[in-house]
Amino acid sequence: MNDDVLHELAMLRELGYTHLDLVPTRSSQADDTPDFGAQSTADSSDSLDALRLETHNCTACRLAGTRTNVVFGVGSPTADLMFIGEAPGRDEDLQGEPFVGRAGQLLTDIIKAMKLSREQVYIANVIKCRPPENRNPEADELDQCRPFLRRQVALIKPKVIVTLGKFGLQSLTEKSYAISAVRGRWLDYNGIKLMPTYHPAYLLRTPAAKKDVWADMKKVMAELGIPA
Ligand code: URA
Repeated sequence: MNDDVLHELAMLRELGYTHLDLVPTRSSQADDTPDFGAQSTADSSDSLDALRLETHNCTACRLAGTRTNVVFGVGSPTADLMFIGEAPGRDEDLQGEPFVGRAGQLLTDIIKAMKLSREQVYIANVIKCRPPENRNPEADELDQCRPFLRRQVALIKPKVIVTLGKFGLQSLTEKSYAISAVRGRWLDYNGIKLMPTYHPAYLLRTPAAKKDVWADMKKVMAELGIPA
């Protein structure tokens, strides 16, 4: 058994799994393999590049004065699955990449447990610059950054969006959903299926909630045609 498989099994155990029903692997089901957008078209990546440049030059709110790096997003520009978090933390601010700290490692494990990689999905935040001391984003910061996120979604055109925590969900949709009320239920964002789930940072504090997130991710996998 290679390290990746051992890692995935460890992740599933951590998520509360005690046994697995073995089914044929994706490689033996080539015809069913969904396109997770490994290819990109010049146009969409150019536009995403233009948007990235705009965010890098942005000084619309106070966070421009304290950031080290703008954290735009990573992954496939034509991904079928897009994760939307809250805001960069210290590690993300230093590295210029979303979800690379402890919560990010957990998100990466969840993505791997879904038989995907960070390169096959797209990961972004509602706020592109780190709020000082990791405080919650303020309303005007969310308002200034929302158009960037919405353009990012429009360019990537994912089939499914997973929002991680309250800010991802509320800021994208501009609705005051309670995460506890809607978690695990399909919502719609501009014709795109949206699955709200808990933020990985919450899972680090509340490991018992990992089972709920895994249940949500299984719905996402089913929607994308990934065998469980
Ligand atoms: N939390 C987030 O919401 N986003 C990151 O990029 C890192 C931690």
